[in-house]
Formats: sequence, C-alpha cells, structure tokens
Amino acid sequence: MAIGGVEALDRHYSAFEGNWTVADCSADYGRLVVPHGNSEAPLYRWFHLKEAFSSRLLDRLLPDVGLSACADLSIADPFAGSGTTLLSGISACEGNGRRASVFGVERNPFIWELAQAKLQARIHGKAISGSFAAELEKIKKFYEDLNGEVFAVPSLSTLRNEKYFRPEHVQDLLRIRHAIDSGSTEATRAIFRVSLASCVEPCSRLRRDGRALRFEPSREPKFPWDVFLQRVDMVRRDLDLTDPASSSGEVFLGDARQVSSLALERDFDLILFSPPYPNNIDYTEIYKTEAWVLGCYESEAEMKAQRQRTIRSHPSVRFAQDFAYLKSGFASDVQDLVDPVVARVPLGDRYQEGRIEVITGYADDMLRVLIECREIIRSNGRLVFVVGNSLHGAGDSKYVIAADVIMGRLAEICGWRVSEVKVARMLKRRSGESAFLRESLVVLEPA
Ligand SMILES: C[S@@+](CC[C@H](N)C(=O)[O-])C[C@H]1O[C@@H](n2cnc3c(N)ncnc32)[C@H](O)[C@@H]1O
Repeated sequence: MAIGGVEALDRHYSAFEGNWTVADCSADYGRLVVPHGNSEAPLYRWFHLKEAFSSRLLDRLLPDVGLSACADLSIADPFAGSGTTLLSGISACEGNGRRASVFGVERNPFIWELAQAKLQARIHGKAISGSFAAELEKIKKFYEDLNGEVFAVPSLSTLRNEKYFRPEHVQDLLRIRHAIDSGSTEATRAIFRVSLASCVEPCSRLRRDGRALRFEPSREPKFPWDVFLQRVDMVRRDLDLTDPASSSGEVFLGDARQVSSLALERDFDLILFSPPYPNNIDYTEIYKTEAWVLGCYESEAEMKAQRQRTIRSHPSVRFAQDFAYLKSGFASDVQDLVDPVVARVPLGDRYQEGRIEVITGYADDMLRVLIECREIIRSNGRLVFVVGNSLHGAGDSKYVIAADVIMGRLAEICGWRVSEVKVARMLKRRSGESAFLRESLVVLEPA
C-alpha cells in the first residue's frame, strides 16, 4: 500500500525519468557508492569519511562511461570530500603509464585539509617519507618541551564537556597540534594534522553516527599521544608504499557553486562528484570536533559562517533566501520540477519552513553547480554524480526527495543530456514505500 503523498510524487518523478535509461546496476555498483575497501587501502585509511565513495569506484566507472585511463585524463570533483576522486583518478592513469591532472574543490576546512594531505601523499609518496620521519622527531621534541604548558581550550562546548572528553586529553590534543605546527614544514604539515584529527574520535566518548555525534558512556577514551604515534606510523608505511606520481593535482578551499572560476580556464574529461544529499546531514556539525582541535575555527561565529557557506542540504541552519534560478531563464522549468515536491511538505508543523527551504535551496544550488560544470566539461567529456534519495516527514505526510531525478532534470534544463541512471542501491524500504528510495549514479554528457 502506498503511503500518503508518496505515490503522487512517484508519478511526478516517473514523468521525468521516463525519458531516460534507468538500469539496475546494484550488483556492480552497490558496494562502490559507499566507502567499501577504504579502511584497508593505503592513504584512504587515514581518516574514515563515512560519506565517501569507494576508492574502487573510478576504475569501474571509467570504461562504463566510455573513458579510458589508457590516455591522459583531466578529472575534477567540485565536492572533493576526502579526495577519493582525485586519488583514484591519479592511480587509474598511473597504473596505465599515463598522467592525470586532477582538480578538486571542498568547502569544509578540515575535510579540505584531509583531501589536500592525501593528494600530496599520492603525488609525492615515498619521496617525502624521509622528511616526514625527520620532522616527526622534531615534533616529538617540541611535544616534550611543551610538557606543563596549559593551552586555551577552544570555545566549542563539546570539547569542554567532561563526559565527552577528559580535560587532560583535550590538553594533549592541543599540545600535539602545537608541536606539529612548530615541527613540520609546509610539505608535510597537513599530513601530520590529519593524523592528529584521526585521534579525536578514539580519544573521546563520542561516536559519529549518521547525522549526529552520539555519546557512548561505556567507551574508554584512548590517550591522544599514543594514538597519534600509531597513526603516524601507519602514515609513514603508506608513504613508503606509494610510488611518486608524474600526475599533478590541486584541491581548493572554495565553493562548488563557483567551480568554473576556480578551475581557471581548465576543462575536464570527467567530472565526478557526490554532493551533500538533501537528507539533513550537516558536515560542519559532524566533523566539528576535528575542525576545532585543528584550530580551523577561532570562534562560534566562524563555525556558524562556515555552515552558511555549505550547500543548502540540511535545515539545521536558516540560509539566505536568495534563489538564482528565479533570475535565470530557467525559472518556470525549475518551478515545474520543484513545486509538486514542495506541495507535499506537511503544513503547519514546526519543520515546514526548513523543509521547503531544503527543497528549493538544494535545487537552486545544484542548478548552479551543474551550470558551472557545463562550462568546464570537454565536448566529449562526462559528468557523473552519485546521490541518494530520502524519505521525509512521518505517517501519512511522508514524501520522498528524489535527488537523482531532481538533479537529472536540472541538468537537462541547463544543457546536459542524461545518458543513464545507474541504480546502485535500493535504500531500506518498508512495503509500499517509494521505488525512488535509492542511491544512484547519474551519467551526463553535454547536450
Ligand atoms: C558526500 S561528501 C563528498 C565525499 C567524497 N566523494 C569522498 O569520497 O570523500 C560531500 C562534500 O561536499 C562538501 N560541501 C558542502 N558544501 C559545499 C560547497 N558549497 N562547495 C564544495 N563542497 C561542499 C562537504 O563538506 C562534503 O565534504
């Protein structure tokens, strides 16, 4: 039995999807749209970004979209996250004796540093292993010298809550950061800082769980310096395992909605990304303890400003009510797409405004990203995005945001053709709920 408005919206989504090839690719792609294999893979295992896709996705995808790593490739990811596209793009080309030129954009300052550290490591590999080891010795010395210093605890209340973090552990994390900032050089600092960031969760009683940090009272927090030494040992081994690449790459701290100006005249064979899904995950929140320990924010106001800069995918912050599509030539097409979804938002509850803002704000942001990407794709290039759809509301007022269909249609509106929707996973559904509850890869080519 269909629930509430779910069925009506399914018809709306089906009308767009009817023009596209939709294939069940779950056997091939089900494990590739999640971080399968990343926790064992050198470099990828430095920090677990739960929302990453697999380091093995690109190898599978390239031939499927008609691109070959037997040629030099230029590859972009405007939502670089932990850098999976960038690293795996380099490895795919280098494995065939070719070169990749990779380019990424990431908005979150900690996640950007993570991508940057891994990219540096992928490009230089064992060539920087010696200086990494020498700098570690300096860091150890600075760490010892800082013994007895008391550091100002960041104003984030989570770090001040003794149920979550022991005060001496917070001091130790800060001491390591100061030692890194004094003992490392530009070439390796991000790698050491990411090693420190990976200690934050195991040294707390918090666990990242979907949309929130959960309190785990029975967990015994580890001592930061011990964990840090284990992490840098693994990082050193990974550097030794990595042959330097002849490929090149950069990742910018910036906004995907401005990717064409950040790309500075470059154009790309492949743009591959997974944007924040419109499912309430707030990356600023989920990765806040790492960002504060690294000193990415000096005040609550800075963290709030960071939240405001992210894609409008979550209602945890009220975003500016400006919609670029209204001033574009696409306004009526976008409204035909979005209005039926907005009409399903249950009226009168306290989430109503936030929910409507997520639908219209997300569509507006994604349209901007797709317009920008259209400017920087080569004429025979491909854009692939990975996105998950989600169920919102409760009871009879449930509705699905089919981000794959919404983005596919937005892409058509701004000069792309949808070559294929590869359904990678059906998400948990109870009987009667929408067939659009799924995670997909949508393949686009310039129209
Ligand atoms: C699903 S994750 C990407 C994961 C990535 N594919 C990987 O494998 O690690 C989406 C990313 O988009 C970033 N993001 C959010 N708003 C952004 C914006 N306006 N511009 C660029 N990146 C943004 C988030 O910080 C997050 O890292």
